[in-house]
Amino acid sequence: MSIRLRVAAVFTLALAIAFVLGSWLLASQLNGVVVAAVDSGLTIQLNQASRLLPSPGPAGPAPSPVPGDYLIQLIDPAGRVRRAGPDTPTVPLLTPSQQREARQGRITLTETIDGESQRVMAEPVPGRPGWTAAAAVSLEAADGTVSALVARLAIGGSVFVVAFGIGAYLLARAALAPVERLRREAAAMSERDAAARLPVPATRDEIAALAGTMNDLLERLHATLARQRSLVADASHELRTPFAVLSAELELAARPGRSRAELAEAVGNAAEEAGRLARITDDLLTLASSDERQLEIRAEPADVGGLLARSTEQARRRAAERGVTLRLSVPDGLTALIDADRVRQAADNLIDNALRFAPPGSDVAVSAAGTGSDITITVADAGPGFEPGFLPHAFERFSRPDDGRARTNGGAGLGLAIVDAIARAHGGTAMAGNRPEGGAMVQLQFPGARLPGPPA
Ligand SMILES: Nc1ncnc2c1ncn2[C@@H]1O[C@H](COP(=O)(O)OP(=O)(O)OP(=O)(O)O)[C@@H](O)[C@H]1O
Ligand SMILES: [Mg+2]
Repeated sequence: MSIRLRVAAVFTLALAIAFVLGSWLLASQLNGVVVAAVDSGLTIQLNQASRLLPSPGPAGPAPSPVPGDYLIQLIDPAGRVRRAGPDTPTVPLLTPSQQREARQGRITLTETIDGESQRVMAEPVPGRPGWTAAAAVSLEAADGTVSALVARLAIGGSVFVVAFGIGAYLLARAALAPVERLRREAAAMSERDAAARLPVPATRDEIAALAGTMNDLLERLHATLARQRSLVADASHELRTPFAVLSAELELAARPGRSRAELAEAVGNAAEEAGRLARITDDLLTLASSDERQLEIRAEPADVGGLLARSTEQARRRAAERGVTLRLSVPDGLTALIDADRVRQAADNLIDNALRFAPPGSDVAVSAAGTGSDITITVADAGPGFEPGFLPHAFERFSRPDDGRARTNGGAGLGLAIVDAIARAHGGTAMAGNRPEGGAMVQLQFPGARLPGPPA
């Protein structure tokens, strides 16, 4: 059932109930007034009933005839009707018990006599102990007045309620029309059109707010989609070169007449490219999983010094080849609640970058510190530092300052993006900058990760 139908139905039902209640109140009020009028007519008749008795003194004026609508009886103590008005039956209007009651004082009742609703009033006759005077009148006319009112209320009310229901439906339809318009616009939108937005009415109402919120959502969805597309494009671009090199090496090796040394070199080159491919695929998988949900982190108490020592140890040979000295400084017993494998992955990436840029004879400093409950890990080198224009994009995927994708000096541009994803998955941040004395510096912060004392 549509909302407009539901709204109209609820309003109509509520109005119908209110109308029926109001009509009932009005009818019962009117009935009360009419019965009161009938009762005062009966009182007058009773007051004049003694006229029906023969006067004991000299003959007075003849009793005025009782209007034909009223039945009047004078009943003696034995219960017999001794006098009756014109057209009044001689059967007593009151039962013996009612007569007994009426001898005490006035009684008023509504009865059905001869299939007709009657109002009966009776009281003692003054000056005649034991006698009662009873008067009755048909309630037909009074009932007719009330029924006529009820009939008119029923007809008028039905027309009113139906008209109101139609009005409520039209109103609800008009109020919901902008929603329907919005739905049609949304249905007609193409998922390929990244710039498509819903028109936001200038009404500053709920509909405008809904359209605005939906547009925000669309924007976020399109941004995510664009990111995914560019990731796929960049990934295939990055993978193409190693694959091309790999197949060229293999082709070369397969040519007849290769010397042993040539074959060994081709295989060596092929293995290097295969390793490169494997690393990029690993990195992509890590980043893809950090996109879908937060990168999965298994935080456990870890010795930060030991963790960084393993990273530097593994890089030591490469550092020596380049004539660079790796220096590690971590306070004793610095313990943190982190995913040691992930943090090592981040440190390895940073050390790898630093070693690539550090000039021979310089130092690469790897350090960690605890301030309050926070842990900071810093890798600094004395190389050329980050290009200032590149700094805001340093943590983006596939971003490298030489955007011509010359691969002479490095990798795919995924390392820092992974470092950033790992820091964020820990609830921390990664920051890149240049040191005043020259050289690059990347810092990871893990707020609240520090644990008191060495790990158990
Ligand atoms: N220590 C550094 N000094 C100067 N520039 C740096 C330093 N570390 C990173 N960069 C610059 O930032 C870019 C992005 O680094 P990132 O680690 O993300 O990618 P990459 O090292 O090029 O490739 P990958 O890490 O995927 O093998 C680098 O290409 C380099 O230009
Ligand atoms: Mg790197």
